[in-house]
Amino acid sequence: MKKIILTGDRPTGHLHVGHYVGSLQNRVRLQNSGDFDEIYFMIADSQALTDNAENPEKVRQNVLQVALDYLAVGIDPEKATIFIQSMVPALYELTAYYMDLVTVSRVQRNPTVKAEIQQKNFENSVPLGFFCYPVSQAADITAFHATHVPVGEDQEPMLEQCREIVRKFNSVYGETLTEPDIYLPPNKACYRLPGIDGKAKMSKSLGNCIYLSDDAETVKKKIMSMYTDPTHLQVSDPGHVEGNTVFTYLDAFSKPEHFAQFLPEYNNLDELKDHYRQGGLGDVKIKKFLNKVMETFLEPIRTRRRSWEEHPDDVYDILEAGSKQASQKVGETLAEVRRSMRINYFEDRSLLK
Ligand code: TRP
Repeated sequence: MKKIILTGDRPTGHLHVGHYVGSLQNRVRLQNSGDFDEIYFMIADSQALTDNAENPEKVRQNVLQVALDYLAVGIDPEKATIFIQSMVPALYELTAYYMDLVTVSRVQRNPTVKAEIQQKNFENSVPLGFFCYPVSQAADITAFHATHVPVGEDQEPMLEQCREIVRKFNSVYGETLTEPDIYLPPNKACYRLPGIDGKAKMSKSLGNCIYLSDDAETVKKKIMSMYTDPTHLQVSDPGHVEGNTVFTYLDAFSKPEHFAQFLPEYNNLDELKDHYRQGGLGDVKIKKFLNKVMETFLEPIRTRRRSWEEHPDDVYDILEAGSKQASQKVGETLAEVRRSMRINYFEDRSLLK
């Protein structure tokens, strides 16, 4: 069986370091492993519209920004197809057929949908399109016969729902669709990176993100203002490492070689944590170290982003060619689906007799 990757992002803002560590880094690694037959990265503009209907301008403006973030982190258009969701309308036809296989109560039980309805204060005014987005996401994944879906842990319920749709479709219409697997980052610390204020999640509306496109000065300011341990008032005080954002970030980003390079007094993160717990280690020192660690990956991303920003037409061409290629692939899957459903009337006259 072919190994195929599909994943995507809603273009509602620039991508941040949480996206990087939770998914983008993993994608680049998979892309460069040479283990995959086909790789698709989707800018999910129509999914973004499901909860931004009143703000289409924001979604439109961020399509290019997400594309730039993709290229900046090292997604290579020679190895992966980057496309725009709404430019592949066959995905909606697939969504329509899948909707017949899913009940309202099943979507209501989807934990991610539940949590988002609460967060967004939708209460009794949930847009139908938003409510159905798990079904449309199943269409995105299966349209490419994706086997591997690299996403954050919060997307697991979407994958579960997708697998159910696949099994249901295959049992009703015969073996047609492929069941995908989630592909989580290898390091648990990368699953859910908190915001710089220590809040559970980075979010644009909370203003607590470090963006991949932030300049070095901005990143430094954000790191120096990071939430640490409110009981650690003086350098000599013993400190807490758990729930301390700087250490959570070090868990996610630091590698053993960073110590030799930037903080040779310590051999590794465990030694640094021990010293912090005992007292005598100041927040400024660990923040400065974190800043150096983060710059090791942010600086090359920034440089690559700048060079693509100078050639927006090249990015446009990549998106256009990618969307064409994606449409072709989805068209093939849709033809298989129609055949399985026996609604390919004009291919086979006997179907109408
Ligand atoms: N829900 C994803 C997000 O919010 C975006 C997305 C849309 C996606 N379709 C997908 C991810 C299919 C993986 C597979 O970022």
